Amino acid sequence: MDLKGKTVVVTGGASGIGLAIGKMMGSKGATIVIGDLPNAPMEEAAKQIRDAGGKAIPVAANVANEAEVENLMKKAVEETKRLDVAVLNAGILRDGLLVKVDKATGKVADKMSLKQWQMVIDVNLTGVFLTGREAALRMIECGNGGVIIPMSSIARHGNMGQTNYSAAKAGVASMTVAWMKELARYKIRVAAIAPGFIETPMVMKDMKPEALEKWKSTIPVGRLGKPEEIAHTAVYICENDIITGIVVEVSGGIRL
Ligand SMILES: NC(=O)c1ccc[n+]([C@@H]2O[C@H](COP(=O)([O-])OP(=O)(O)OC[C@H]3O[C@@H](n4cnc5c(N)ncnc54)[C@H](O)[C@@H]3O)[C@@H](O)[C@H]2O)c1
Repeated sequence: MDLKGKTVVVTGGASGIGLAIGKMMGSKGATIVIGDLPNAPMEEAAKQIRDAGGKAIPVAANVANEAEVENLMKKAVEETKRLDVAVLNAGILRDGLLVKVDKATGKVADKMSLKQWQMVIDVNLTGVFLTGREAALRMIECGNGGVIIPMSSIARHGNMGQTNYSAAKAGVASMTVAWMKELARYKIRVAAIAPGFIETPMVMKDMKPEALEKWKSTIPVGRLGKPEEIAHTAVYICENDIITGIVVEVSGGIRL
C-alpha cells in the first residue's frame, strides 16, 4: 500500500509511539485521524503531524467505550470518504505483583486488585477488539481493502509484575491471527507489532536513572528503542502487501 492520499486512524495518537506513527505516515501523504482521550494533547499532536507534511483530524474517543469507537471510525469515513489503515495503539499500564510478600515479615502485603486487572483489560484488550471491529466494518463498507495494525508487546510472553498487561497483549496477538483469517477475503491485512522497551512517556514517566541503567543492561543492543523505530515498522507493514497474520517483535533482542 502506498500511504499517499490514504486515511489512517491511530488510537492513542497524541503521544509516544502513536504520535510517531502519525508523523511518519503523515509525512508520506496520509491523513491521520487521531483517536485519543479528551484530555490528551491532540491539538499539539495534530500540529506536529501537519508540520511533518500530513493532514490531521483529532477526534476524542475512549477506546474502551463502544459508542465513542463507533463514532471515531464513522467520523474518519465521513470526513475523508475512506478508511485504509487502523493502528490500534492506545494502551495503559497498571503494574503490580499477583501477590506481594513483605520481605521483612514474610507476610502477604498486597495483591493485584480486580480494578488494576479490569482497567488494563478494558483499554488494552476490549479497546483493541472494539477499534479492530469497527475499523474492519468500515473498511469492508468502503471496499478498498486495508491494513489493521494492533499494538501488542513482548510482555505477551508473560512478564513479571504484568499479569494484566501480559494477558491483554497475548490476546491482541491471537486476535491478529483470527482477524487475518477472517478478513483476508476482503483484502484487509492484519499484522501486529510487539515492541520491547521504547522511550515514550509510558516508560520514562516515573523511571529512576538507576532503574533505567539496569533495564538497559538486559537489552542485547544496549539501549531502549525509539518511537520512530516502531513507526518505521508500521510503515513497513503497510507498504509490504504480502505481510499479514504475524506479530513483528521490535525489541533490540530481548527474550522474555
Ligand atoms: N513504550 C513501550 O516500551 C511499549 C512497549 C510495548 C508495547 N507498548 C504499547 O504501545 C502502545 C503505545 O504506548 P506508548 O509507550 O506510546 O504510551 P504513551 O503513554 O506515550 O501513549 C499512550 C496513548 O494512549 C492514550 N490512551 C490511553 N488510554 C486510552 C483510552 N482509553 N482511549 C484512547 N486513548 C487512550 C493516551 O492518552 C496516550 O496518548 C501501547 O499499547 C503500549 O502498551 C509500548
